[in-house]
Amino acid sequence: MTTTGKPRVFSGIQPSGELHIGNWLGAVRTWATQVAEQNEELIFCIVDAHAITTEYDPAELRARIDGMARDLIACGLDPAKCTLFVQSDVREHTELAGYLANVTPLGDLHRMTQFKEKSAGKEHVLVGLFTYPVLMAADILLYKATVVPVGDDQLQHLELARETVRRFNYRFGEIFPEPQPRVSQASRILGLDGQGKMSKSKGNTIALFEEHEAFWNKLRGAFTDPQRMRRSDPGRPEICNIYTMHKALSSPEQVTLTHEECTTAKRGCVDCKKILMESFDRELVPLRLKRAELDAQPELVKQALGDGAEKARRIATETMREVRAAMGLGGK
Ligand code: TYM
Repeated sequence: MTTTGKPRVFSGIQPSGELHIGNWLGAVRTWATQVAEQNEELIFCIVDAHAITTEYDPAELRARIDGMARDLIACGLDPAKCTLFVQSDVREHTELAGYLANVTPLGDLHRMTQFKEKSAGKEHVLVGLFTYPVLMAADILLYKATVVPVGDDQLQHLELARETVRRFNYRFGEIFPEPQPRVSQASRILGLDGQGKMSKSKGNTIALFEEHEAFWNKLRGAFTDPQRMRRSDPGRPEICNIYTMHKALSSPEQVTLTHEECTTAKRGCVDCKKILMESFDRELVPLRLKRAELDAQPELVKQALGDGAEKARRIATETMREVRAAMGLGGK
């Protein structure tokens, strides 16, 4: 709980250059619902310091941060109703990460699946990629967040953050609450190729703000149930990515009908995707308009991020004062 009496929610997203339908369904769309409801204190962060763990172009990163801010605001993260900011604008994130590295065993980081996947077969692996989960724990702890809405690929990192709280509190006193994950219904959207999760780095995405025609062409070609070779073969909705998306986006009646018509082969995959496209359009048309408006107002977005950093910094400064005191750091 916070001074407002509301639980504090924190989440982050990398400025990957593209908000895709996986991020949106798995995370951002639920964040926007929480912003509309206003039952919680909400803090959302564009985690640029997490996006420098592999080679990158600084000018491009700058543009990606701006683009992600516009995408998020267009999706409903109204800066007047939540705190939206860029991680590196609040220096305390890296400061806390530096301290937390000293309560984090090496073995825990070696066990992280995402590190293993991203470093597999590479000769040139940076320390920042290895210590990524420590920075992520710092992001959450800095705001003493109790709820962290994420897709299921982040659960292992979140478990490490919880473990970090226990270790820190045991050594230095009860400073941090244990953050609980909140996983959305569509917490794992598969890539268009059906090869694991949808992810920019795998090139198997549909960008949320892609032109309608390009969006449809990609959706039409998306992988479904591999056992459905012919139109007359019955499908298995529970393993189909298109059905997962229907469950998140279409009406309950449509979801029931989709299940029935898939398992009885009454409906073909292309028709099923057309209906899904209509469900996407229902939500995306207003978001696209908002996104276009924001393109014409770069100053407004800049101002919002500045204000967001200011709000975040107020909480972060207070937490760091407590942390330094508890750890016996500082000369004053
Ligand atoms: P990132 O930027 O990869 O993804 C942002 C959010 O989108 C979810 N997501 C998905 N959900 C369903 N299906 C998918 N295919 C899919 N792809 C991505 C992610 O689970 C995530 O919730 N390490 C984090 C960012 C981060 C963070 C934090 C999150 C940094 N610090 C503190 C929470 C709290 C990441 O790389 O997310």
